Amino acid sequence: MKVGETHYRTVWMEDSSVFFIEQNLLPFEFRIQRSETFMQSCHAITSMQVRGAGAIGALAGFAMAQAFLESAVTQALGTRNQEPGTRNQAPGTIHRSRVTIESTRPTARNLFYAVEKVFAAGMISADTAVAEALAIADKDAEDCRKIGEYGNSLIKDGFRIETHCNAGWLAFVDYGTALSPVYHAYAEGKHVFVYADETRPRSQGARLTAWELGQQGIPHTIIPDNAGAWLMSQGKIDIMITGADRIAANGDTANKIGTFEKALAAKALGIPFYIAAPLSTVDINCSSGKDITIEERSQDEVLYAEGPDDEGIIRKIRLASPGSGALNPAFDVTPAELITGIITERGIIRARREEIFKIAG
Ligand code: MRU
Repeated sequence: MKVGETHYRTVWMEDSSVFFIEQNLLPFEFRIQRSETFMQSCHAITSMQVRGAGAIGALAGFAMAQAFLESAVTQALGTRNQEPGTRNQAPGTIHRSRVTIESTRPTARNLFYAVEKVFAAGMISADTAVAEALAIADKDAEDCRKIGEYGNSLIKDGFRIETHCNAGWLAFVDYGTALSPVYHAYAEGKHVFVYADETRPRSQGARLTAWELGQQGIPHTIIPDNAGAWLMSQGKIDIMITGADRIAANGDTANKIGTFEKALAAKALGIPFYIAAPLSTVDINCSSGKDITIEERSQDEVLYAEGPDDEGIIRKIRLASPGSGALNPAFDVTPAELITGIITERGIIRARREEIFKIAG
């Protein structure tokens, strides 16, 4: 998508370096960062400089490829008579690198999907690992474009769409999932309006979704997380579309904390509630939502807020009563029966085991 006049992907790889948009600085500063090692790429995921299921999937794939490249260099230096990048190289090291990448964030399936594929490719050579990581990133962008085409069919002229967190292009390599249908509808000339849930505690909606929509010129407003049910009851929301971090085989879906209660409200008030996600988010080996690991993040994200003061200096201020602690589950699971449909790159399906197996099994 474009920032100003320039087209950017969220994350990309050139030679052995990975480049990414630093999301912790948005919307106040737009900066591209470079990661030269697999450890730096892991840090970018844990610190959420890159976040969002597809974007961390692509970055995890690139990190795995970087680990193979680094292992090949080490091996070439240490074992002159051995071909760099071959299957015999430092198997312990590369396995440890894989575990390190997989430990960065536990919930989004895309991260594990990418690491599995790049790891298998790296068994042939480091170059094959890089090629696989690049292909995963390209596929993510293309899948999201197709999700936009399918999802656009659900959006009528004049629709008011609510979304939660950021499942726009910043959360993927390009286009996004929940916002891709909105971008397609807008490009076709439909009048759309987006209600972006602020999405405490990290405010991905208020900071990232609002910034993205603003860049594309799409009319929108930020709403407090607890305003959704009220707006739905007032007839202000025509459809709700969110992303997904992991979809179990029965259709139960993990997404940013707060999604579940939006789906409950939507069901009670008769508002269509859709999940938009590529099939790389489906975990066919995960039988139901009960098997999804939910990431717990630092209580500081709830207790404090960060942002620039009038001089542009980033300040951290305490919001909560001094001495009180906080609980910070980063995701929740929306049961399949609350989901009207799942918008994928291969069409819109119902959140039912038979349909999920047919398309992703
Ligand atoms: O913790 P984050 O910001 O990485 O959260 C993941 C998400 O981006 C959301 O849950 C999103 O709705 C899923 S689709 C990328």
